[in-house]
Amino acid sequence: KRKIILDCDPGTDDSVCIIMALTYPDVELLGITTESGNLPADKTASNALRILEYMDRGDIPVAQGMMHPMLREYPKDPYSHGEDGLGNHFFPEPKLKPVDQSPAQMIIDAVLANPGEVTLICTSCLTNIAVAFMSRPEIIPLVKEIYHIGGAYGITEYAFRNATGDNPMSEWNIYVDPEAARIVYESKVKLTTIGLDIAFNPEAVNISEDTIQKLKNLNNRQAKYALEIIEYIDGNNSIEEQGIFINGPIDTTAMCCFLDPTIMTDVREINVAIDCGEQLTRGMTIWDRRDHFRWEHLPKIRTVFEIDGTKYQETFYKALGGKV
Ligand code: BDR
Ligand code: CA
Repeated sequence: KRKIILDCDPGTDDSVCIIMALTYPDVELLGITTESGNLPADKTASNALRILEYMDRGDIPVAQGMMHPMLREYPKDPYSHGEDGLGNHFFPEPKLKPVDQSPAQMIIDAVLANPGEVTLICTSCLTNIAVAFMSRPEIIPLVKEIYHIGGAYGITEYAFRNATGDNPMSEWNIYVDPEAARIVYESKVKLTTIGLDIAFNPEAVNISEDTIQKLKNLNNRQAKYALEIIEYIDGNNSIEEQGIFINGPIDTTAMCCFLDPTIMTDVREINVAIDCGEQLTRGMTIWDRRDHFRWEHLPKIRTVFEIDGTKYQETFYKALGGKV
C-alpha cells in the first residue's frame, strides 16, 4: 500500500479528501495533521475527528497544529466553508481526541520509520511541514514526495480569481503562511504543486451530472457526504460572486493527482519565488518566465499545467467507493 499523511485544514474540500484517503484501495493513511487554515487549528482538528467518526475510523491518529502561522497572525478565512467548516453538517462534538503529539513530530516519526515511502498530501498551508523540516532537516530527502494545493501561477485565467478575497495576487494556502511555504519550496523536497490555475478551473475540475448520478447510485456514506459537500459548494455565494461555477471540491484535485498521477497531462518544472511581503502581494507565487535573465537560483517546482478532467472524475468516483 502507498503510505500517506494528509496535512489539512477541514474545511469542506479537505474533509472529502480524508474520506477519499480512507476509501481508495491501495492507500494507507498513517495519520492526519491539521493546522490553522480554513479555520483555527483546534477546529480543523476536531473536524478531522468528526469525519473519522462518521467513517468509523477512530484508529487514524490526528495531530493538532499551532493556532497561528509560523510568524504571523492568523487571518480570518473569507471563503466560507460554512459555520462549522464542514458545509453546515453540524456533526456533534467528537468523542475522539487528537493524539498527544505535534503534527511535525508525527511527520518526522512516520518518515524516519518509513524512509522514502511516505507521501505528504498537503491541502492547507505548509506550516506543519515547514516546522518538521526546520526541526529535523534530515527527513527532507527521506520524504517520498509532496502534493500541494497552493499557488496562483498565471497559467490559466482562473489563477487570480482566487479564494482569498482581500488579496489580488495570492492563493489562500500560501497567503496564510508564506514563510512556511517558502521554507518548503526552497527545501529541495520533491514537490508537485497544483495552483488555482487548475484547482479553481471549472474546465478541469468539474463533477458532471453523469458522475453525480453515478455517485448517487453508489448509495454509500462516502458518496453521500461528498454529494452534500458538492451541493454546498455549488450554493456558496462567495464563489458565485466571482462568476465561477465550480463544483469539484478544490483540494480533491491534489488527492486525485496522487491517486492516479496519469491525471496530470502536463507537469513542468518552473522557477518560483514566494513573496513574504505585506498585504498587496503577500503569498504571491512568482513564476520567473524570462528566458535570458531567469533567476535560476529560485527553487524549481513541479507545477501542474493541465489535468485530464475525465480521469479526475473517474478517480474521484473510485475514491468514494465506485468501481471503474
Ligand atoms: C484552498 O483554500 C481553501 O479554502 C481550500 O480548502 C483550499 O485548500 C484553495 O485556495
Ligand atoms: Ca484546504
